[in-house]
Amino acid sequence: MKNYIKADEWSIIEESFDPHHHQISESIFSLGNGRMGQRANFEEAYSGQSLLGNYVAGVYYPDKTRVGWWKNGYPEYFAKVLNAANWTIIDINLDGEQLDFDKCVVSSFRRELNMKEGYLKRNFEAQTTSGKIVKVEAIRFCSMVDDEAAAISYTITPVNFSGTITITPAIDGDIANKDSNYDEKFWDEVSKASQSDGGYVVMRTKKTGFEVATGMKCSIAQNGKPVQPQVKPVVKEKYVASVIELQAQQGQAISIIKYVANLSSQNYKPEDLVNQLNETLSRVSQKGFDTMLAEQAAAWAKKWERNDIIIEGDVSAQQAIRFNIFQLNQTYTGEDDRLNIGPKGFTGEKYGGSTYWDTEAYCVPFYLATAPQKVTRNLLLYRYKQLGEAIENATLLGFKNGAALYPMVTMDGTECHNEWEITFEEIHRNGAIAFAIFNYVRYTGDEAYLADYGLEVLVAIARFWSQRITWSQDKQQYVMLGVTGPNEYENNINNNWYTTTMATWCMDYTMQVIEKVKATAHEKYTALAAKINFDEAVETSRYKHIIEKMYYGYDEKQQVFLQQDGYLDKEQILVKDLPAADRPLNQKWSWDRILRSCYIKQADVLQGIYFFEDRYDTETIRRNFNFYEPRTVHESSLSPCVHAILAAKLGDEARAYEFYLRTARLDLDDYNNDTEDGCHITSMAGTWMSVVEGFGGMRVRDGKLLFQPFIPEKWTSFSFHIGFRGSLLNVKVSKDGVQLKNLSEKPVSVIVYNEEQSVGANSELLVKG
Ligand code: BGC
Repeated sequence: MKNYIKADEWSIIEESFDPHHHQISESIFSLGNGRMGQRANFEEAYSGQSLLGNYVAGVYYPDKTRVGWWKNGYPEYFAKVLNAANWTIIDINLDGEQLDFDKCVVSSFRRELNMKEGYLKRNFEAQTTSGKIVKVEAIRFCSMVDDEAAAISYTITPVNFSGTITITPAIDGDIANKDSNYDEKFWDEVSKASQSDGGYVVMRTKKTGFEVATGMKCSIAQNGKPVQPQVKPVVKEKYVASVIELQAQQGQAISIIKYVANLSSQNYKPEDLVNQLNETLSRVSQKGFDTMLAEQAAAWAKKWERNDIIIEGDVSAQQAIRFNIFQLNQTYTGEDDRLNIGPKGFTGEKYGGSTYWDTEAYCVPFYLATAPQKVTRNLLLYRYKQLGEAIENATLLGFKNGAALYPMVTMDGTECHNEWEITFEEIHRNGAIAFAIFNYVRYTGDEAYLADYGLEVLVAIARFWSQRITWSQDKQQYVMLGVTGPNEYENNINNNWYTTTMATWCMDYTMQVIEKVKATAHEKYTALAAKINFDEAVETSRYKHIIEKMYYGYDEKQQVFLQQDGYLDKEQILVKDLPAADRPLNQKWSWDRILRSCYIKQADVLQGIYFFEDRYDTETIRRNFNFYEPRTVHESSLSPCVHAILAAKLGDEARAYEFYLRTARLDLDDYNNDTEDGCHITSMAGTWMSVVEGFGGMRVRDGKLLFQPFIPEKWTSFSFHIGFRGSLLNVKVSKDGVQLKNLSEKPVSVIVYNEEQSVGANSELLVKG
């Protein structure tokens, strides 16, 4: 755990430079706008340890899986998000000496991620090996308004010398992925050009053939006045630059504005890319840096209007929740239904930038409440559009009749992960995808979605489950063999309670939706049944039989749901009795030892209880929580939030807060020692859930919002915004009670502490606690 980020309500601030923290900061200070993003690499040279990262949403490479042997059904490829052309470079040379930050003596350093206005700012004063001192201010952002554009303003002032300063803004397309199975580079050059005020490279991905044009247009000012110095365009393989030589006077600033555009062939014909790129560059450079920055601030102000959570009385918690919300909004804007949310967003390569069940289980609740309905709908449509590939995936594994197994990890709908225990066995992701449809309809009331798209996905998933179970002669019940639950610290287990519960729920929900669609859109139902060859009577009678005869493990002695058949055979030593030196287990123990242990990586039974809490009384929830939590090591960032919500439900406010802290500052404090690989973007949605569903006790029941809030002891108040069925509500919880502010034009009816309250249009109401 680290503690070097300065507490501030609206900014992430680092006030001195420590190379040991540099890669962590590169992750934390990342920027993005849903279409592209980047790690906070320095503009000038840095020869120390750094993880370069510039990413373009949706652009990936199917890297050939590397295994020494092959088994039928193994995915051939592992898709990877690609580290793309580096557009941040502004190389600085002082009288022939390169400014290399790693080789400098740094006398002051500050970087700030301004989350209110959406930019990154870095100031430093440093002395080079030869003794030259410079002062630098660099500001940059990825525009939320022009999502194919970004801009950098870089100002350098010679402090103790006059001389020649050479500034070389560049675009480098010769980029390697850290994660590459064969150390291969994934980009080929298509074209490039360099002219006096800028240049571009067009790169094409191998195999997938995505083309990305990255260009720059630069302007220079000296001592505050625009100048047009001699520029030497440079063109090398996969690289363009403009070498700008200036005579600098001691104490007089030189500034460069570098406008950048990044366009991909997902959105343009390859032959139009360069024209479109130039058009974008002219448009944004005509606007100018200050206007772009003002627009950026306005765009973020609009986002915050609906997204912000205000915590009074705890600056560090305030900073943390805003950081989580900021990063989620930088990662996914919901404008494009071909895009999704990788667990690391635009902050690193880990997890291949791919889509996991994280989206449906964790991110959907966040976007439902904080973004227009279309945003979550696009996340659902992403899966709908990949149904064909999910059916093909299941077919490859031997399933029939249109059964679908969605991939555990994907970029384009195909499975692109290659650990069999995850790919073949972590099938619970199918359940989360169905649950997200349910959650979306429950929240929005958009039942038309079911007839148009949802039911088709649900039937394909129900078909899968109905084939994936096995009839046990011995038990005279159905069983579910050979699975991995959300707890990846056990593989190939039988009757994982969570997976089984999801499976039967999916079949049941599918039947409910069939009835609903038949009643409301009969023609669509008939057309769909014909399209997918659905024999309702035969198939649903099988679903019913399975639901009726399904086996679920239960331990009578402890009266808890059994995570899997063999769980209680394991040696039961609680996490608190483990030596501290053994933690985290995944870094200290062999995998074999982990698999044989009782330690649970993340919520498993408790994840199921969280999804279906209405089925269980409080005592059942408490028994399961008290049994499983002490065995859970929370070595997935997705774990603490579910525990925070359940602890809050059980009235254990202190523990709810403790779990919240683990998720909220996970990256800012590098809690798991892995932030240098990138931030845990999807678990940030879990942090939001901990506040709104945990402390706020928010649920949706029968088309209404329900709140059961409490206030963590350390806080004076907290408030959040909730968009719900066309209204916007602000809920403020303080020691005085719950203040509801209806920010919309129609009355809203909500349930607070089990009592219905109606809040008029543009009105407020205080409910005493
Ligand atoms: C978790 C999975 C999750 C993945 C990506 C893993 O460590 O166990 O549940 O989907 O990370 O976040």
